[in-house]
Amino acid sequence: MLPNMGNQVSKAVLITGCSSGIGEATARRLAGSGWTVYATARKPETIEHLTQHGCKTLALDVTEETSMQAAVDAVVRAEGAVGVLINNAGYSQGGAVEQVSMEDVRRQFETNVFGAIRMAQLTLPGMRAQRWGKVVNIGSMGGRLTFPGGGLYHATKYSLEALSDAMRFEVKGFGVGVVLIEPGLITTEFANNAVVASTENGAENPYADFEAKLEVLTKGVYEGPARHLGGGPDVVAKAIEKAITRRRAPSRVQVTASARLTILQRKLTPDRVWDAAMRSQFPQPR
Ligand SMILES: NC(=O)c1ccc[n+]([C@@H]2O[C@H](COP(=O)([O-])OP(=O)(O)OC[C@H]3O[C@@H](n4cnc5c(N)ncnc54)[C@H](OP(=O)(O)O)[C@@H]3O)[C@@H](O)[C@H]2O)c1
Repeated sequence: MLPNMGNQVSKAVLITGCSSGIGEATARRLAGSGWTVYATARKPETIEHLTQHGCKTLALDVTEETSMQAAVDAVVRAEGAVGVLINNAGYSQGGAVEQVSMEDVRRQFETNVFGAIRMAQLTLPGMRAQRWGKVVNIGSMGGRLTFPGGGLYHATKYSLEALSDAMRFEVKGFGVGVVLIEPGLITTEFANNAVVASTENGAENPYADFEAKLEVLTKGVYEGPARHLGGGPDVVAKAIEKAITRRRAPSRVQVTASARLTILQRKLTPDRVWDAAMRSQFPQPR
């Protein structure tokens, strides 16, 4: 990797997971506002259209070490450093904790957590060298509360909360800000890309009914009345742009009323009452 070139500060933005949703909207919005944007995806053909919106594109799979290194190296060669890293790639692995195969558990953490950690490790040296940078982690309101059947996904988002808190302290003195974005219900491909543990075992699976209903509930929430408290991906893109433009990066940004209300509701609700509320919405496995 080359060191930062000259005294120029690179504000080049690298975004993971731009094939759809929040990543795509953020790439388009930031490029439209004049930022140099490297939009990335594991399948580059899914982001070709973003070049028409002023983005540069690169292949990047956050579960592949060589892919992450190659993408960061390409930005460093062209710009001197990644100035803004947006750790956006992610998906939801649903299912009762007992039922999800360890392979799927690992894939969930590889994508949502380890990928974000590794991308920060690869880009921070350049940010520190130029004494300017922003790391934006796309967490979730699901990093502040947990729905049944979502334990693994929520665990990855809780992880980003802890990592963001630690990193914020560790890199501040080098001129690097860390922002955790906590979106609520955002209409994207998220529900369609969500995976629920296989219910193929049928009668042998004590969670079969629960998991079958989970899939319906996950998709249904984006179509039900709660969606009015959410928003489209551009609402998140706008919040990200605002956060990286501010001189002092905000530590947490809750995006949409659904995030603000649900996080507050969870904070004020004792566990016993929360569990009772969950029982009214999710079939309890027994
Ligand atoms: N939508 C919501 O309600 C919501 C709420 C809170 C937080 N979030 C978070 O927001 C982020 C973006 O989600 P979204 O709502 O925009 O959903 P989305 O439309 O499904 O986008 C997810 C993106 O992640 C990419 N991705 C998945 N695995 C990857 C990998 N191994 N390497 C690189 N990219 C990968 C997907 O690319 P492929 O096309 O290659 O699969 C896709 O571009 C996620 O971290 C999600 O947890 C979403």
